[in-house]
Amino acid sequence: MVVLEIKDLHVQREGKEILKGVNLKTGPGEIHAIMGPNGSGKSTLAYTLLAHPKYEVTKGDILLDGQSILNLSTDERAKKGLFLAFQYPTEVSGVGYSHFLRIAYNALSKSLGNEKREVFLTVREFQNYLKKNLDAVGLRHDFLSRYLNEGFSGGEKKRSEVLQMAVLQPVISILDEPDSGLDIDAVQSVAKAISLTARPDATIIVITHYARILKFLSKLDFVHVLADGRVIKEGPKELADELEQKGYGWLGIQEPIQS
Ligand SMILES: Nc1ncnc2c1ncn2[C@@H]1O[C@H](COP(=O)(O)OP(=O)(O)OP(=O)(O)O)[C@@H](O)[C@H]1O
Ligand SMILES: [Mg+2]
Repeated sequence: MVVLEIKDLHVQREGKEILKGVNLKTGPGEIHAIMGPNGSGKSTLAYTLLAHPKYEVTKGDILLDGQSILNLSTDERAKKGLFLAFQYPTEVSGVGYSHFLRIAYNALSKSLGNEKREVFLTVREFQNYLKKNLDAVGLRHDFLSRYLNEGFSGGEKKRSEVLQMAVLQPVISILDEPDSGLDIDAVQSVAKAISLTARPDATIIVITHYARILKFLSKLDFVHVLADGRVIKEGPKELADELEQKGYGWLGIQEPIQS
């Protein structure tokens, strides 16, 4: 049972306040979407949840089951089951993809102490487990012998992020625009792969600009709209369609001025 609570969160980067009092709560088994215009602070929120060193929390709190995690480092938060799929995944040359996934999977299993997870999958068992997940996200099996994200196309990097989530089975997954740069069929397969990882004890938060990916999810419980560093509207899944049809203007959000 894991409840994530973000309370009056204020965050600065290089002295500039980006989040100006974000409140958000998620519970186990729920799928949430965060939408909002470019520059509203969505990625900032995602990075802050995983303790990116450039983002400084100046006020407010982040709680997991009532306990503050603000003083925990990124790896300590990951070991509690938090996971972030990046908007812009980094290429890590020299780190073998399947090796990386196996080490991460075993570290998380040990730390969560979950009896349902097999901690010491052999290399062969783990490869079989990976292959099932590769099929689910639509990546060829030969990706396993490559270095992490190195030379992956934009869409392959996005599928790779979702693959990591599917393999690691985190408790709280934050996916920062898993649909950006994907072709039309890929959006559907990535959404299906995300849905496959949904569990009654896990929470998924999808950051996106488009209702399309949300429609392909097995369910969607809440939509939160972030604008200028605050959650300005929340609603059921229909809110995502409304935003796609009407844009953000009706919520009183100004379009950024184009120069
Ligand atoms: N180092 C910095 N100095 C000043 N402003 C910054 C810095 N880093 C980020 N910002 C600003 O913080 C704001 C929020 O950025 P963030 O990446 O969180 O937006 P976003 O909602 O994820 O946008 P997008 O939909 O385009 O991904 C932006 O206006 C950005 O320019
Ligand atoms: Mg972003």
